[in-house]
Amino acid sequence: SLYQKGVKHLCENGLDRVPDKYILPAADRPNITKQDLNIVEDNLKLPIIDFAQLLGPNRSQVLKSLANACEHYGFFQVINHGIAEDIISNMIDAGTRFFELPFEDRAKYMSNNMQAPVRYGTSYNQNKDKVFCWRDFLKLLCHPLPEFLPLWPSSPVDFQNLAATYSKETKYMFLMLMEAIIESLGIVTTATTNDQNKTEEEDILKQFEDGSQVMVVNFYPPCPEPDLTIGLPPHSDYGFLTLLLQDEVEGLQIQFQGQWVTVEPIANKFVINVGDHLEIFSNGKYKSVLHRVLVNSVKSRISVASLHSLPFNCMVRPSPNLIGEENPKRYKDTDFGCFLNYVSSCEPKRKDFLESRK
Ligand code: SIN
Ligand code: FE2
Repeated sequence: SLYQKGVKHLCENGLDRVPDKYILPAADRPNITKQDLNIVEDNLKLPIIDFAQLLGPNRSQVLKSLANACEHYGFFQVINHGIAEDIISNMIDAGTRFFELPFEDRAKYMSNNMQAPVRYGTSYNQNKDKVFCWRDFLKLLCHPLPEFLPLWPSSPVDFQNLAATYSKETKYMFLMLMEAIIESLGIVTTATTNDQNKTEEEDILKQFEDGSQVMVVNFYPPCPEPDLTIGLPPHSDYGFLTLLLQDEVEGLQIQFQGQWVTVEPIANKFVINVGDHLEIFSNGKYKSVLHRVLVNSVKSRISVASLHSLPFNCMVRPSPNLIGEENPKRYKDTDFGCFLNYVSSCEPKRKDFLESRK
């Protein structure tokens, strides 16, 4: 149907009402009471992690901030990440230019196969959503890069190169952050030359090097009636960490102390969030928090989310180091593949993977 072709396409000839397909039941609508979302007191300042300091004498201080952020917010902002500004702006540009392509050029990448290495799609889960959301996306598998890169869009010019550079940089940031996060959980990871002393967590760091990486470029066109619909419904992310880049347009909201609060976009900074797999790995200490995206009537918005986890064939389980008499195991071991199927078969607003609790 028309809706399967995405919101961008739907809007291309102008639209002054939201079609019924996108109208949420009243109870699920974001209540945008203010015309302008840009109201500072509703905005949340996320904890800030200074990436550069992770490598210096203040590492232990930064690890404490990291632990606090993962426990109490599930989100943090990374500064001094060392990724060059042009790599970031090139990625945003390349994504923007992809969505500016004529519909026919974008449509080449449409697929019903959720596992397709390149997939252009719309809504949250277009095979399943009754009410559609106001979002189109381009999803790219990134690992192993030599296998997938040639399948990525060859237009706009340079898209493949720019996105590949970007994906390598975010992978590096992910690996460095996971090493720090594992340390922040009190798990010893001192690199040892003696293989017999190798702990299980050193192995997990190795596994991450070969881990899954999925990049999603989200596009939210301006919406004539933004209070009737939503860009993305409340959901949590499945992986260990999501590294999110947003343009300067607000829209992302997270659950914080029982309220929806807007995350202020800061140019060139990353918003990082704990995913379900890290919640499980940390045996519930670190939280995978619900978040959603609002749309507005004035500006389109673009974001790039990089989801990182273990290889797709791995088991996800609480770290044995975090289980003890006072800390019973709170989640069952789950197979990554099964977990993904489970996630895509249920309502986005789920924290019910906790049902897999022992
Ligand atoms: C997401 O939750 O995956 C996307 C968030 C955003 O567009 O800001
Ligand atoms: Fe998300």
